[in-house]
Amino acid sequence: MQEIHIKDKTIKLKESNEVWMPTRFGIALGELILEGARPNPRVLELGVGSGVLSILCGMWGTKVTALDINMAALELTEENWKLNGLPQENLEVRYSDLFSGMDENDVEGYSLLFSNPPTFPGLPPDYLLRKSRDEWEFAGNDGRLVLDAVITQGSSWLKTGGRMVTIATSKQGWNQTVELMDKHWKKWKILRTEDLPLADYYDPYIELWVQKSKKENQVRIFKKNGKWQQRLYFIEAFKN
Ligand SMILES: C[S@@+](CC[C@H](N)C(=O)[O-])C[C@H]1O[C@@H](n2cnc3c(N)ncnc32)[C@H](O)[C@@H]1O
Repeated sequence: MQEIHIKDKTIKLKESNEVWMPTRFGIALGELILEGARPNPRVLELGVGSGVLSILCGMWGTKVTALDINMAALELTEENWKLNGLPQENLEVRYSDLFSGMDENDVEGYSLLFSNPPTFPGLPPDYLLRKSRDEWEFAGNDGRLVLDAVITQGSSWLKTGGRMVTIATSKQGWNQTVELMDKHWKKWKILRTEDLPLADYYDPYIELWVQKSKKENQVRIFKKNGKWQQRLYFIEAFKN
């Protein structure tokens, strides 16, 4: 078991090799979620993983709908929710490829939507039968699949005035993100940026991002102190 500290909250998490466990930027997203905390009667998370961020919201007494394509993540979220002493009736986990687990009753039903999306480029051939934690991090061409769903479909689940918070990275092409955000959200801004060295598991994609950077005249990854880095953009938007 591990304990994650986000501001004044401590979240207990059982771990699993099949599920993404919190990283520094997931925790940073949690801090931003807390900073904008308002009475949030209903919260929606796409890509719940271990449950860490949904549990954070559950600690406000909020009702949470948590989506993931990885069944092991949904099971672990339920366990971790209980481990933190939260009422079972406040959590609903749903198997969902992007927003496929949502239906017409969910339209405009939520005050807060957030996602820490996966960013590996490509999809495994048997993409619905992925096994390891990392296999669930593939997000299609450019690693944009989940991010684009949040940007292009997210507002339909939000009430008027509802808030969306997510993370985009330069690896996915920041120009494309800005274009989509401008198209789908009238009111949005960057809350924070952070430059982070690329983890070793991104090594196979470095050449791809270098070539794309040259072709597109935008920086996807860059070198600082001899190490490849990505820039993270923490984004907030509101539904008009
Ligand atoms: C980077 S992890 C974030 C986990 C957790 N929210 C956190 O911040 O630690 C991304 C999550 O998205 C899920 N995911 C990947 N592709 C998905 C898809 N197409 N639909 C729904 N969830 C997906 C993965 O299984 C994983 O749990």
